[in-house]
Amino acid sequence: MEQSSVAHIVDYPDEPIDLLQQLLDAVKKHHPNSQQYMNLATVDDEFAVLNRTVLYRGISADKCIIYVTQRFTRNYENIKANAKCGVTILMPEVMLTSQETTPSIWQVRLLGATAVELPESELDAWWNRELLSAKIRDIIFPCGQPVDYDELKAKHDQFLKEYQESGKPLQRPPTFTAFKFEAQRYDFLKVGVNQIADRVQYRRQANGTWEAMHVST
Ligand SMILES: Cc1cc2nc3c(=O)[nH]c(=O)nc-3n(C[C@H](O)[C@H](O)[C@H](O)COP(=O)(O)O)c2cc1C
Repeated sequence: MEQSSVAHIVDYPDEPIDLLQQLLDAVKKHHPNSQQYMNLATVDDEFAVLNRTVLYRGISADKCIIYVTQRFTRNYENIKANAKCGVTILMPEVMLTSQETTPSIWQVRLLGATAVELPESELDAWWNRELLSAKIRDIIFPCGQPVDYDELKAKHDQFLKEYQESGKPLQRPPTFTAFKFEAQRYDFLKVGVNQIADRVQYRRQANGTWEAMHVST
């Protein structure tokens, strides 16, 4: 017989970033080596709206999602021209509590997010967390330009060799930067097989606190 039920988000914390952290921790528990990705949409004067996949980097001290990019990318130019962004994070397999026996899909969506560039004084900390491959790309690769693959690979291999021989850490290039997203709302959606989704939406109040409520799908 066909089944149907209604997903339920229970015992959610007062702050949206704490629920996000609970979800990330639950994913890490079952997939310790996994990385989390986000979808970032910006306003673009040529294509009206432009989205792309980006890596989730972490959370700032003031509880905002961090995003790292290069100052020569289109997304950087877009954000500088219009700081409003759309951000979604998809977690396809999460078991949040020990009572859950089957995984659910979760979507975290930031509504009315404003990207705020981090000050120079905070960038080294995020640079130091980057993987070597990402650092090398940031230093020697152009972005979005036609390239000769063999030339690029030779440049990479030579750079890697010199880096390994030098024993010195790679310096953050001036193009490296990071943003935090200040959101008006966080929308959490949970759904499983044969289920109708439940959503909990956190709405920022004028005094800076969050009001959380169930929202129908
Ligand atoms: C898995 C994955 C992770 C990515 N992470 C980032 C990232 O953290 N920052 C970034 O600027 N681009 C990242 N990219 C590249 C962007 O998707 C995009 O191609 C790049 O930003 C250039 O597009 P844009 O200039 O229109 O933003 C990632 C791509 C993939 C597939």
